[in-house]
Amino acid sequence: LAKVEVDLSAIPEGKNVVVKWRGKPIFIRHRTAAEIAEANAVNISELRDPQLDSARAQQPEWLVMLGICTHLGCVPIGDAGDYGGWFCPCHGSHYDISGRIRKGPAPLNLEIPEHVIDGDKLVIG
Ligand code: FES
Repeated sequence: LAKVEVDLSAIPEGKNVVVKWRGKPIFIRHRTAAEIAEANAVNISELRDPQLDSARAQQPEWLVMLGICTHLGCVPIGDAGDYGGWFCPCHGSHYDISGRIRKGPAPLNLEIPEHVIDGDKLVIG
């Protein structure tokens, strides 16, 4: 299947869910207001891969990313690391609550796959 459909109403605020798409993990996080504020408070000129949170999350509450570390392809762990987001245990890359690389060897932010959010329905692909 080229596309995967996810019912967002089943994901509580503050929680991560992992789904498979084309054999790859997709991270979906239902972000809290505090997390959205934190993601937007970052001065992007200080980032290795400068991207506004609004360029990554189509809707602030929903962050949808490819769960593959941009260093050498391990799967990062959620709710972990020094920046309140994801941590890759393979070589120690820390991603923030927008999935942007903040510390460690990874060169780029976690990738955002093509997706559409329509009400409670997320379609990836
Ligand atoms: Fe993630 Fe190396 S693969 S830090």
